[in-house]
Amino acid sequence: MFISVSFLSLASLLLGASAQSPLQQNLTSLGVDAVFPTDPTYANVSQAYNKRFTVDPAAVAFPTNVQQVSEAIQAGVAQNMAVVARSGGHSYIANGLGGTNGSLIVDLSNLKAISVRSSNNTALIEMGNRLGDIALALNAAGRALPHGTCSYVGIGGHSGYGGFGFTSRAWGLTLDTIKSATVVLANGTIATASSTINPDLFWAIRGASPSFGIVTSIEVQTFPAPTSAIVFQYGWDSLNITAASDAIASFQEFAATNIPTEFGAELVFSRGPSSGQVAFGLTGAWYGAPAALNATVAPYLKTLPTPSSQTITPGSYINSVSFLAGQPLNTTTAPDGSDTFYQKSLMTPEGSPMSAAAIQAFVSYMAVQGFSSSTAWFIEVELYGGSNSAINKVPLDSTAFAKRDTLFTMQLYASSSNYEPPYPTAVGFKFLDDMVASIVDNSPADWSYGAYLNYADERLVNASTLYYGSHYPRLKALKTELDPKDTFRFPIGV
Ligand SMILES: Cc1cc2nc3c(=O)[nH]c(=O)nc-3n(C[C@H](O)[C@H](O)[C@H](O)COP(=O)(O)OP(=O)(O)OC[C@H]3O[C@@H](n4cnc5c(N)ncnc54)[C@H](O)[C@@H]3O)c2cc1C
Ligand SMILES: *[C@@H]1O[C@H](CO)[C@@H](O)[C@H](O)[C@H]1NC(C)=O
Ligand SMILES: *[C@@H]1O[C@H](CO)[C@@H](O)[C@H](O)[C@H]1NC(C)=O
Ligand SMILES: *[C@@H]1O[C@H](CO)[C@@H](O)[C@H](O)[C@H]1NC(C)=O
Ligand SMILES: *[C@@H]1O[C@H](CO)[C@@H](O)[C@H](O)[C@H]1NC(C)=O
Ligand SMILES: *[C@@H]1O[C@H](CO)[C@@H](O)[C@H](O)[C@H]1NC(C)=O
Ligand SMILES: *[C@@H]1O[C@H](CO)[C@@H](O)[C@H](O)[C@H]1NC(C)=O
Ligand SMILES: *[C@@H]1O[C@H](CO)[C@@H](O)[C@H](O)[C@H]1NC(C)=O
Ligand SMILES: *[C@@H]1O[C@H](CO)[C@@H](O)[C@H](O)[C@H]1NC(C)=O
Ligand SMILES: *[C@@H]1O[C@H](CO)[C@@H](O)[C@H](O)[C@H]1NC(C)=O
Repeated sequence: MFISVSFLSLASLLLGASAQSPLQQNLTSLGVDAVFPTDPTYANVSQAYNKRFTVDPAAVAFPTNVQQVSEAIQAGVAQNMAVVARSGGHSYIANGLGGTNGSLIVDLSNLKAISVRSSNNTALIEMGNRLGDIALALNAAGRALPHGTCSYVGIGGHSGYGGFGFTSRAWGLTLDTIKSATVVLANGTIATASSTINPDLFWAIRGASPSFGIVTSIEVQTFPAPTSAIVFQYGWDSLNITAASDAIASFQEFAATNIPTEFGAELVFSRGPSSGQVAFGLTGAWYGAPAALNATVAPYLKTLPTPSSQTITPGSYINSVSFLAGQPLNTTTAPDGSDTFYQKSLMTPEGSPMSAAAIQAFVSYMAVQGFSSSTAWFIEVELYGGSNSAINKVPLDSTAFAKRDTLFTMQLYASSSNYEPPYPTAVGFKFLDDMVASIVDNSPADWSYGAYLNYADERLVNASTLYYGSHYPRLKALKTELDPKDTFRFPIGV
């Protein structure tokens, strides 16, 4: 036993030395820790959250500070490699692994500092942090940020492309809270970006950061944690096509009334008990005075049949974050999950809500094709707009985020039946392509809908227009200036 182990280590040492790639030599000489394809931990560190993807990066580097992030980028550039950042690794299309084979991954998990400054209510957050840990750290100081529900999502991708949660109607997207950032550019320069320093870069990283650099920290404006929060979940086990269509149409009408910004919500659809039926839910959170929730939601509930179930969970703000996550907020206490899925998104314009024909076609599709689909699917219709939404108050051209007139951001999500590979691509892709088409084909030819970069779809047709909208030409021009060799390249990038 002793002999064979020594023999093996000697052999791998010799092999390793002779097989050292130029990238490995570069990173080693710079003292940047990295995992290479021949290393035993490579399979683990290159595992995608979405197991529909198998991606083999050239290496996964684990810098311990901003200087090492710069050195890692320069090592990748010296080898003409694509370089991408990984924060939480929750990209739907494995873009935190480059999305295609052979990229250098700069994993930020060693950059985990969070400091909350009471002097001006900002927080400085390093980009290796996950949403759950950030919520805990801010809440300990009585503060909060708008962000999504899953604890394990990384702040890097989330704040680079958007960041929606039920507080967003009151506080905006995560990226709207950014006051300044430290960004490492393709040439290795460590830059500051704010409204006064490198303002073009500051604009670009709030909506398209992955294409422009590796953000190592952001300074954000925090909000007082609400004094209470109520999570509400109303469920209908079975609605027919007429009733479910009415539920969407009346939600559009309800959103146009004077609903308070302390009301955050989404509609959720999934497979019904028989063909022609869907399961339906209204889920959200209420951050206003507890006694006022019922009166706020009553005008919408009045338009629907009596719910089959209702769960009203009052408590503190951090309890609501934890309840909505449905998993530990402290991500060091349990391992991350995974899934095997395809997903598409659709952002509907507030000025041109879905027509009755589009709603009817969409609901029929879910109720009939959805009933017989072999995938495990759900659809979320998130309320971005409605009266006084903070998301839509931000002037369109003040950040790179493309859509400031969105009523709903819809997420159409279909997993393999057991959430494990292989993904049934032939039926899974067509199922969601046709579901989106049921809406778009029944909408005006010039309908100004879009798609959400945090709900990434590598197969999207017309991706640059749908993801980046009218900002695409300016982003292209800035890309040429800031990343002339296209070092930060990956599917659906600028
Ligand atoms: C379970 C789950 C729940 C979700 N819930 C929500 C939700 O409620 N609301 C919502 O808005 N979204 C939600 N999302 C989507 C999520 O916001 C995106 O998938 C997000 O991009 C993931 O960020 P990440 O850092 O974990 O991913 P990564 O895979 O690490 O990164 C995603 C992209 O950002 C780039 N990137 C990462 N870090 C940096 C950085 N520091 N600088 C520059 N570029 C960087 C990567 O290169 C990659 O292109 C959810 C996703 C999952 C899987
Ligand atoms: C990286 O490797 C290239 C050759 O492959 C070399 O020219 C360059 O000097 C190296 N850089 C560093 C920082 O080691
Ligand atoms: C796999 O890697 C992750 C970090 O990328 C680490 O947290 C986890 O412990 C590793 N698991 C194993 C089995 O090595
Ligand atoms: C990466 O290479 C592996 C092995 O050749 C292959 O199975 C996989 O599909 C490739 N991944 C991508 C995203 O092309
Ligand atoms: C907030 O205060 C910190 C120090 O307390 C300071 O470094 C930072 O620049 C301030 N930020 C803003 C936006 O004023
Ligand atoms: C998470 O738990 C670990 C281990 O118990 C602890 O050290 C850490 O401070 C916790 N993080 C947060 C954000 O509370
Ligand atoms: C559809 O459901 C509604 C509400 O439950 C009911 O009133 C209506 O009769 C149903 N329509 C059909 C065609 O079954
Ligand atoms: C709100 O309505 C629920 C039933 O839907 C009821 O249980 C609760 O007591 C009501 N709350 C208030 C404050 O009226
Ligand atoms: C793509 O966009 C162009 C121009 O906006 C449009 O003419 C074309 O129909 C679009 N194609 C699809 C499939 O949406
Ligand atoms: C790096 O790129 C930035 C942005 O284009 C530029 O301002 C800076 O001068 C460059 N630095 C070097 C050392 O070339």
